[in-house]
Formats: sequence, structure tokens, C-alpha cells
Amino acid sequence: MQKRFYLETFGCQMNVVDSERIVSMLGEIGYLQVDAADDADLVLLNTCSVRDKAERKVYGHLGRFKPIKDARPALIIGVGGCVAEQEGEKMLKEVPYLDLVFGTHNVHRLPELVQQAEAGNRRLSVTGFLDQETRLNLFPQRSELDTVTRFVTVMQGCDNFCTYCIVPHVRGREISRASAEIVREVEALVAQGAREVTLLGQNVNSYGNKEDGEISFAQLVRRVAAVEGLLRLRFTTSHPKDLSDELIACFAELDNLCHQLHLPVQCGSNAILTQMNRDYSREDYLQTVHKLKAACPDIRLSTDIIVGFPGETEEDFQQTLALVDEVGYADAFTFLYSKRTGTPAAELEDKTGARIKQQRFERLLELQQSRSREIWESDLGHEFEVLVEGESKQGDGQMFGRTTANRIVNFAGTPDMIGTLVDVKITRVFRNSNLGERVVS
Ligand code: 5AD
Ligand code: SF4
Repeated sequence: MQKRFYLETFGCQMNVVDSERIVSMLGEIGYLQVDAADDADLVLLNTCSVRDKAERKVYGHLGRFKPIKDARPALIIGVGGCVAEQEGEKMLKEVPYLDLVFGTHNVHRLPELVQQAEAGNRRLSVTGFLDQETRLNLFPQRSELDTVTRFVTVMQGCDNFCTYCIVPHVRGREISRASAEIVREVEALVAQGAREVTLLGQNVNSYGNKEDGEISFAQLVRRVAAVEGLLRLRFTTSHPKDLSDELIACFAELDNLCHQLHLPVQCGSNAILTQMNRDYSREDYLQTVHKLKAACPDIRLSTDIIVGFPGETEEDFQQTLALVDEVGYADAFTFLYSKRTGTPAAELEDKTGARIKQQRFERLLELQQSRSREIWESDLGHEFEVLVEGESKQGDGQMFGRTTANRIVNFAGTPDMIGTLVDVKITRVFRNSNLGERVVS
């Protein structure tokens, strides 16, 4: 009988890409993906440890699988991703019914581990970082997905060591993939039917900095944008300190570079930015935003903000509110600071109570939601080019796609539009998506 696996993915796009790879590798050893754990032979969680909440979720989710394992001891349960990297064998001790733990640098070993587990050799853990050359050879390759929008990993890891962040500890140092290989992959994806590509990395702006003779990220963006048939290009995530003028100029010059950028600010106070080791000031950040808007007046920006970093005062927090108001983000991901063991910020004194932090969080959310609403509502009645991605979940002949600003739009259409650009007039604005009707000229 066909072997079946169930996979759940948490966290950032890096994990999403790793999961794509897991799906294709497991396919090669005879596993079919199913969407419920109950009838699977193999259950995998690809985990995130960026905040405490995400980490606790992993243990909660594993608990859900225990009754299934009790009923069917042959079931193989595995955990990968950042929690796996961080906890390693400890997870096997804490979760007696767990079979496999595979870290962020060892995703490629999963098939071998699964085969060992099938043979009765369980309770295996592989974690630890690999040397740069081995990593380069293991960069995620394109999988067999045939979606209109695809991710291409251009670099991995992070050398920034923001004081709150666990990522450099669980993903390792920065490493960039050869530009020629990236361009070849994008060409292959377009030949497979992709029309939009997002270049992916923890900090794409420092692409190639460590590799002798490699081109800059702005040059890479230009090369990829020139791939024939590629209708749209995005990239994420950008660190504000490394966003070059050359890259900003790309927004003005390249027709297929989308008018959207995720630019995590984290905080609006210089004192806290210094404590966070972000390496830019509030003024630097605002100047970068100013340049972006000058190069691309309709650019939509999004950001990440941490509320309640150790030592954050009411004045610091007000600086964040003022910055959010000034920039006018289309979207913001706001987080309560979460202490991560092993990071420098975990050692800082933190006198602000949880209640005050929660209130700040809610004040920020309220401001951001009203700014977001204003921005998206300004689209009402206007026409946008939408790259059609598929049939909408709502059914009823509704299709969905996104605007250059990355806004989801649902509209009445037909499946033959998938992969094409259509003009849609926005008729209603919801919190996370717009409704529109097709404009035929
Ligand atoms: N606490 C809260 N938020 C965090 N982030 C990263 N580390 C922490 C932490 N310890 C947020 C940052 C980052 C996003 C991916 O997660 O805002 O940009
Ligand atoms: Fe973490 Fe900072 Fe690196 Fe982003 S840039 S992954 S926040 S250390």
C-alpha cells in the first residue's frame, strides 16, 4: 500500500521552502502527502523558534499525535526546523514517542532517517551546522510545484546578531548562492509556468558580500528581472541598514519589480535600536523610506515591530507610534518581545510589567489598523493589474490574484486567466483582501 505522510509547517518562508523540498524528497522514497495525521504513516512538524509562543506550540502539537501513536505504534513522528536545531536530542528525552529530530542544516538527510525509522531504528537526531561548501551544494532546488508564484532562495543564514534574535543561532552564518545558478533556476521556473518569483533570504540585501567576485544584490535583481517571461519579481527580507541606493533605483527602473517592500524597523527609538544592535537610527530609516517613496511613489511598505523590548520606556514607545504614523505602513506584523535563551537581550534587565507591555501592544495595533485601513481603502474604485494565481477559496467562479502591492484580490473570472495579468477595479475593501470586478478595455 502507498505510504502516506502528513506535514505541518510553522514560521517564515525559509521553512515553507524547506517543506517544499521535504515533499519532493519524500515523494522520491514512495510517500504521498495527505492532509490529516490520522491516516498517515509519517507525521512531520517543520518548526519555528523565533518567539516563545511558536516554540510552545510545537510541544502542544506533538501532544495531539500521541493518541494516534498509542493506537498505531508503527507511526513515525519527526520534528525539523528551528526548534529541532535548537533542542536536538533534548526533544527525544522530553517527548518519549518522538522518533526523528532533524535540524535546519540537515533537511537533506530526512529520507535516510525515515528509511532507518521504517527499519525499526528510531529515536534519531541530526543537528549541527555544516561547513559553507557543503551548504552551498545543498541549497534548496526547485521542486515540482506548478504554481504561478514561486520562491527562490538566494542566501541563507544571518550575520547580524540582533540582540533579541535566535535566528543566527538556529540557521547559522550567511551564505549566498552563485548568481548564475539563481538566474538558471528562475529561467527553469518560468519555463515550468511560474510568472512571479520572490527572492528569499534572511537578509537579502547583504547577498554576495562574503563571496569573492559575486555581484551585488541590486545587480542580481536586475539580472533576474531580465529573465524573459517573468512578469513580476519581489524579494524579502531586507535589512534597512543594507538597503543600497542602487537597489532603491531598481524600483524606479525595472518594470517587473513589484511596488512593495517589507522593511522591518523593529522600533522607533534610537536608544532601543542601539540596544537591539540594529545598526541604523530612526533618522537613517526614515531617510531610506523617503528615498523609496521618491523612487516609487506608490510603493506599499510593510514592517515588523517588537513591543516591550527590555528597558523600553513610554517615551521610546511613543517614538515607535510616531514613526508608524509617519511612514504609513500598508501592513505591520507586531510582536510582544519574547525572551530567547542564549541571546544577549535575555540578559538585560526588564522592569516593565506585562500589563503595560500588553497595553502598548494594543495601542500600536489600533494605530496600525487604522493606518492600514486608510491605505487599502484608498484603492477603492481604482483599477489594478492583478496576476491571477488560482481559483478563490470562496468558489462560485471567483478567481484570486494579487496586485503589485501584494494585496489579494478576489473577482469573477475563469481558470484560463491563471498566470496572466488582468485589470480589476476594486469594489470592496476587507481587512486582508479586496473584492473587484474585471475591467475589459
Ligand atoms: N521577540 C519578539 N519578536 C521577535 N522577532 C524576532 N525575535 C523576536 C523576539 N525575541 C520578530 C522580529 C522579526 C520577526 C521575524 O520576528 O520583528 O523581524
Ligand atoms: Fe534576526 Fe536580526 Fe538576523 Fe533578522 S537581521 S534574522 S532579526 S538577527
